[in-house]
Amino acid sequence: MGRRKIALIGAGNIGGQLALFAAQKQLGDVVLLDIPQKEGVAKGKALDLEQCGAILGYDATITGTSTWSDCAGADVVIITAGIPRKPGESRDDLVGKNLPIIRNVATNVKEYCPDAFVIVISNPLDAMVYELKRVTGMSRAKAVGMAGILDSARFSLFLSRAAGVSVKDTRAMVLGGHGDSMVPVPSACTINGVPATVRISEQQLEAIIERTRKGGGEIVGLMGTSAFYAPAAAAIAMAESYLLDQKRLLPCAVYLEGEYGVNGIYMGVPCIIGAGGVEQVVEIPLTEQERAALERSAEHVRSIVQIVERS
Ligand code: APR
Repeated sequence: MGRRKIALIGAGNIGGQLALFAAQKQLGDVVLLDIPQKEGVAKGKALDLEQCGAILGYDATITGTSTWSDCAGADVVIITAGIPRKPGESRDDLVGKNLPIIRNVATNVKEYCPDAFVIVISNPLDAMVYELKRVTGMSRAKAVGMAGILDSARFSLFLSRAAGVSVKDTRAMVLGGHGDSMVPVPSACTINGVPATVRISEQQLEAIIERTRKGGGEIVGLMGTSAFYAPAAAAIAMAESYLLDQKRLLPCAVYLEGEYGVNGIYMGVPCIIGAGGVEQVVEIPLTEQERAALERSAEHVRSIVQIVERS
């Protein structure tokens, strides 16, 4: 059996880091695709990363290109094509800039990688993955968005630091849209099954939730551009669960068909990812407050999707 093939659309900050993680985890060969004006960057990063393999000890072939046919037959496609945030911008502010880009990418995915498991990272996430599904006509099992794992990672880290415990033992969940309306779920926060409130106060939890909501913006404010290490790690966790049929339960942006009372939009919910892609959406018990916050988040996502539909 040959190696699996992973096509990374966008060879920028997240794209480069995705390639490194995919190669280190030996998930398969990697193709880094960017626009023709950036083909040199894609090729240069690919070569640099292959040389990295001679030191770290991985055999993956990593290719840079601007030619979509090089992505043909990919098992997984991860899309970061687009413009990242600048300080002061919200993810929603990117909709006008990134909509033509996702339409172009989706058209090519449909032509060259129709059978791939496709993970979208470009923002505003829920609207971009919605448009990808609409243009490609893909099933919800195969077209998914990365956001919840990243937001939950931020939530977990802040919780573990406040509780004074290892991040390995901290479980946290963020659902809803990937934006200011995201819904951290306090009732799902545990330290290896022990309610997190055993180690931290309600007041600390409130502050952590607020920091989580603004977690992406905090980094944009510091660096002048979006985060890339943790977003790449999150998407690789999804790709790995698909390629190795791990059946992990992960919060991802999934096209909802009535689950959580929401229909016809993408939003972050827990789901199981295995060889079938998104194999199942898992409905977890929520408090009344959490459910209301999720409804508000769905309304917000819907308002951005309406902008996409009108454009
Ligand atoms: N096809 C392929 N690549 C494209 C296209 C396209 N049509 N349009 C733009 N790109 C490329 C850019 O040339 C750039 O190299 O996408 C890359 C994006 O890389 P960065 O600017 O470094 O942005 P990054 O930090 O990787 O974030 C990308 O992910 O988290 C989101 O908000 C973020 O929407 C942004 C995206």
